[in-house]
Amino acid sequence: MIRLEESNRLIEKFEEVLKTPLQAKGKTLYTGIDLGTAYIVLAVLDEKGEPVCGAYQPADVVKDGMVVDYMGAVKIVRKLKADLEEKIGQELYLAGVAIPPGTENIDGGVVKNVAEAAGFEVVQVLDEPTAANKVLKVQDGAVVDIGGGTTGISVIKNGEVVKVMDEASGGRHFSLVIAGAHKIPIEEAEKMKQDFNLHKEIFPLVQPVVKKIISIIEKAVEGYDVDELVLVGGTALLTGIEGFVEKETGLKTSKPSNPMFVTPLGIAEALIEGEK
Ligand SMILES: Nc1ncnc2c1ncn2[C@@H]1O[C@H](COP(=O)(O)OP(=O)(O)OP(=O)(O)O)[C@@H](O)[C@H]1O
Ligand SMILES: [Mg+2]
Repeated sequence: MIRLEESNRLIEKFEEVLKTPLQAKGKTLYTGIDLGTAYIVLAVLDEKGEPVCGAYQPADVVKDGMVVDYMGAVKIVRKLKADLEEKIGQELYLAGVAIPPGTENIDGGVVKNVAEAAGFEVVQVLDEPTAANKVLKVQDGAVVDIGGGTTGISVIKNGEVVKVMDEASGGRHFSLVIAGAHKIPIEEAEKMKQDFNLHKEIFPLVQPVVKKIISIIEKAVEGYDVDELVLVGGTALLTGIEGFVEKETGLKTSKPSNPMFVTPLGIAEALIEGEK
């Protein structure tokens, strides 16, 4: 049985420090940097694993898990870092980054270089599902990361990631469908999609994309004896998506209180673990 109370506590605390950063003079701080297709997120934890501050910004610097705008990425990370340092009155330097599974040889170095060019000392590069599971602590089940560009599924047995799969279906496809149906620009569709009041109206429109994602999940878990799913990634914010996935797959499905921050928090948690 997957329990998300502890993950939710951490995420909710993180959401508080996003708004009101804590003072952390003299503490060793650990920054998780998540360079995504849609957002760049920085999550900062203290040595006890408690959130200190964080920042995020929409960014167009990564496509299909690859950094396509190196200088743009460096600029944003550097700016978010400087803003946070000013707010908390302390320098941030120890950082970890994560990369989509399977891109280690192609892109692992690039993401690390972005963080280092922005002034961090990167002490760990790990794969995204392993990072996410540092927060979720799933023992047996599958974690489904529905991001901006892709959906990544990792199957977990005895707390270890045993299989990963990443396919091109994500939030951008939801926005494209909404844009097409309403004959509006994608930017406007993106805004509609992020308005929780419109989710009920939007759901039937995007249902085919959700079904596509469900077929990806079913293919990923086939033969793995998975009973439970956890949804993470910004697209999992869509109201009711977990219930629909549960009904269609017959697998118990849950999502943490804010699925968008799981991976960056997990990257930072893994750093602290690595220090012990
Ligand atoms: N309130 C919301 N409702 C629905 N979708 C949302 C909401 N807020 C953000 N999103 C979507 O979440 C997606 C971004 O999620 P996330 O930050 O997990 O992606 P990413 O890590 O940048 O991308 P990827 O993992 O594919 O590289 C975007 O497509 C965005 O439109
Ligand atoms: Mg992501």
